[in-house]
Amino acid sequence: MSSSVDQLVERLLSSGARNSDSSAIRDLLRHAAKEGLISLGGGIPAPELFPVERIIEATATSFAELGAGAAQYGLTEGELELREVAAGLAEEDGAPALPDQILITTGSQQALDLLGRVLVDRGDVVAVDDPAYLGALQALRKYEPELVGIPVDEAGLDTDALEQKLRAGLSPKTIYTNPNFQNPTGATLPSERRAHLVALAHKHDFLIIEDDPYGALRFSGEHLPSMASTSDRVIRVRTVSKILAPGLRVAWTIGPPRLIEALAIAKQAADLHTSTLTQHIAARLVGDTEWFPKHRASLAPWYQVQRDALMAGLASNLGDKLTFTPPDGGMFLWAELHRDLPPGSTTADLLPIAIEHGVSFVPGSAFAVDTPRPAHLRLSYVSASPDQLTEASVRLATAIDAWLD
Ligand SMILES: Cc1ncc(COP(=O)(O)O)c(C=O)c1O
Repeated sequence: MSSSVDQLVERLLSSGARNSDSSAIRDLLRHAAKEGLISLGGGIPAPELFPVERIIEATATSFAELGAGAAQYGLTEGELELREVAAGLAEEDGAPALPDQILITTGSQQALDLLGRVLVDRGDVVAVDDPAYLGALQALRKYEPELVGIPVDEAGLDTDALEQKLRAGLSPKTIYTNPNFQNPTGATLPSERRAHLVALAHKHDFLIIEDDPYGALRFSGEHLPSMASTSDRVIRVRTVSKILAPGLRVAWTIGPPRLIEALAIAKQAADLHTSTLTQHIAARLVGDTEWFPKHRASLAPWYQVQRDALMAGLASNLGDKLTFTPPDGGMFLWAELHRDLPPGSTTADLLPIAIEHGVSFVPGSAFAVDTPRPAHLRLSYVSASPDQLTEASVRLATAIDAWLD
């Protein structure tokens, strides 16, 4: 008897596709677009900060200067003009790069996928932040590595813990980390740990994937240079998603030329190249040395007001039931619930109740690699207004009481 098309497709899917976790949490958040819901879930940048007029202007200038060529097929490596702009930012960061060390990608998410594709054979050891950015875990897991979580504490990746594992025989090809305002913990890696990580990469021969979408969003403290300023083993993954607009899907990766070449070959198979038009737009905006630094500097104060509103709301409504380390920048606050949880339950069980009460968040378990995070919540303060963030704290407190009392 012939099967339904769904049954047929299920049978035909590759093992990789069949085993891809559909993520119950993502589904729940996606369907949680109910009216009045205040989202502390996704790290969706505030649309008020998108330079819409400038994007329109740059689109017109691109066509005025390049004619239809602005929308023609382009090089897989990316438009030279944008790679030169990216090289300029790399220099600003204390680690100059040549255009042939730079690959433009369709968002930094694509870079993570391509890195998995060119570096990981099934069973290869890859070390990652634990907890880690969910999208990086998804991208890497497709290539079936042995992922080893290295604990992240209030000061980012615990490099002593990494060293212990290396001494015990761990031999990773690479380590994936967010050094600035990490997703999900908001933690920033101090200089000493950066130097330690670089020293370990040299001693044990692995590459460091430094994914840094949030570095420009600093509220307090000193900007710390990229680890690439002290080592050629660092692969810098950068994006305009949080500093211009994510819908442009423009990002770049800077690394050793041989790696960039391998990534470019993989990218060619994936999508030929990133949109030429949005590359031209990004090159004009980021390359505008008058406007761009001012625009970039205007973002953090906006998010800081929102962070403060959320922190104040949590302090007055949840007191010491929910503790967190204030992030110095970025988009996320990593909170831990200090109440006895029902045996075997986690904040993933709180999520549907919170949604019923009109607030969403991402449970800690979504980001966990080796260490479960049953009592953690990632709260993003970037998508809601200060008043909404205050209200979200009230709703969260009520939902927690409804769950636990
Ligand atoms: C740590 C991290 N890396 C990469 C990305 C992907 O960003 P994009 O593909 O928009 O550049 C995100 C998105 O939120 C992120 O938080």
